[in-house]
Amino acid sequence: MVCLGNICRSPLAEGILRAKIESNHLEIEVDSAGTGGWHAGQSPDPRSIEIANKYQINISNQRARQFSVSDFQEFDIIYAMDGSNSSDIIAMASNREEMEKVRLILNELSPIENKPVPDPYYGGDQGFENVYQLLNEACDAIIKKIK
Ligand code: 4NP
Repeated sequence: MVCLGNICRSPLAEGILRAKIESNHLEIEVDSAGTGGWHAGQSPDPRSIEIANKYQINISNQRARQFSVSDFQEFDIIYAMDGSNSSDIIAMASNREEMEKVRLILNELSPIENKPVPDPYYGGDQGFENVYQLLNEACDAIIKKIK
């Protein structure tokens, strides 16, 4: 799960997908990162922690890190939150196979529409509720597909 800062959207995406993996007794590794490194080492944004808590998900132990080219080897699918994240990651790919691992997460809900998960960083709390709902639905679709 990749966004820009790895403090708002992708930590939520990681927490939501991990909770669904566990409740479905699946064995899948999930992680998150940011294309930028400014927040590396930091906890998720308090507003993301709060919205996750509201839905009984604890993301407070996560720490931000920057996406690295080694993630192309580590992971089978790389979900980007928006088109800018997606093009930044694709620019780091070294071959077609790596490029094809990169997907927009909301295309799991509405394929080919290329809808972004809106960046809630500069907005109010409602933005975080909206992000939670979008990611929750997308992660349900991911789990359904895997099963
Ligand atoms: P995220 O949100 O990409 O969902 O983690 C942001 C976090 C920090 C910044 C921008 C977006 N920032 O500019 O510091």
